[in-house]
Amino acid sequence: MTNYERVKKELTKLGQEHLLRFYDQLSADQQWLFIDQLLNLDYSCLQALDNTKAPETKASISPLTALRLSESEARREEFTAAGIKALKDGRVAAVLLAGGMGTRLGSSDPKGMYDIGITRPVFIFQRLFENLRSVTDRIGRPIHFLIMTSEKNDEKTRTFIKDHNYFGYDPSYVNFFVQNTAPCCDFNGKILLESPSWVATSPNGNGGWFDTMLHKGIVEGLENSGVRWLNVFSVDNVLQRIADPAFIGAVILSGCASGSKVVRKADRDEKIGVMCLEDGRPSVIEYTEMSDALLDAKDEDGEPSYNYGVILNYLFRMDDLKKASMEELPLHIARKKIPCIDEKGNPIVPAEPNGFKFELFILDLIKKLPGCLPFEVEREQEFAPIKNKTGVDSVESARILCEKNGITL
Ligand code: UTP
Repeated sequence: MTNYERVKKELTKLGQEHLLRFYDQLSADQQWLFIDQLLNLDYSCLQALDNTKAPETKASISPLTALRLSESEARREEFTAAGIKALKDGRVAAVLLAGGMGTRLGSSDPKGMYDIGITRPVFIFQRLFENLRSVTDRIGRPIHFLIMTSEKNDEKTRTFIKDHNYFGYDPSYVNFFVQNTAPCCDFNGKILLESPSWVATSPNGNGGWFDTMLHKGIVEGLENSGVRWLNVFSVDNVLQRIADPAFIGAVILSGCASGSKVVRKADRDEKIGVMCLEDGRPSVIEYTEMSDALLDAKDEDGEPSYNYGVILNYLFRMDDLKKASMEELPLHIARKKIPCIDEKGNPIVPAEPNGFKFELFILDLIKKLPGCLPFEVEREQEFAPIKNKTGVDSVESARILCEKNGITL
């Protein structure tokens, strides 16, 4: 059987044979590349559409308090010493999740290339490298730094960072890897074509990083070089403290398999996931899942019971991640605007959502691990996310926070 025949058979079985609609009009090269894409596409995500019809079983949610600033302050020296030892011993690697599309920011470049400077260039990537360097300079050695990109932004990301000489970081400690993609489909579950010879795909969310690292042999390589913990963080927080010794030390000494940096919520309705217990296990509940009852719940001191928001800066023990990865993470389905072509081959740039994207979320990892320490940090010093162009969590708000922290822009 030829590859074309194999693909046709598989697509027919899945009810996706429309993908071959333009096949006969393609050049031999295009046909070859297209068949290769179709052979390697992960069609399993389509099953998630059936699961949406199944009744949801609601977990029981209860509060989980964080290690508050006042408490960690009292043990700062002890935590810092433990963290510095782990870093000096090469036990910790940093993982930057930079595969996102940054659609809300409205730039087609990788988000990390965004320049937030006013009087000089200050790129988001630069801020992250500088923050990491502030720790590695202090401990006197670099740590392994993994950067996850996606098919859509890999080349630009690598070139940009290389052209900027890794912002002074030792390049032999920097490694890039490309995250997996998932096909996009319309509301009837039909996979969309981006062009006559290419399926519309999108990066599969911020939760697939560890699986990808495992399958590419990166985890094994890190283990062999002595790494035991991974500090994972998002690209868009320009005050992100990476490889923070106090955080690392606190998590290691707590005996937990993971830790999450958290900040006190700015207000009741802030769009941020919060730490909680789900059926008795540490977990993160998304803001979209918070009922009024949970939002209004108060503890004995009159403080909101669910007040500690996650800022996408986690520390994970690699051994436990490996065990957890045996079990799949749930796939989230999001309604999105997906550029595609119609059945005649005309391009569509939708103004409204026209289909589904499939994503894995890093926050779903937490409840799979035996224990998580929510570690409170000073919001104004460590949390300046750039999600939007203006307003809340924007370039403007991040600039104000950078200036407050003495960063010249
Ligand atoms: P967001 O959830 O804000 O997604 O990412 P995004 O794609 O960057 O932005 P919008 O929603 O399209 O505006 C949080 C972090 O997860 C990473 C992002 O790069 C960011 O660091 N991420 C997200 C990935 O690495 N891969 C993905 O598929 C999605």
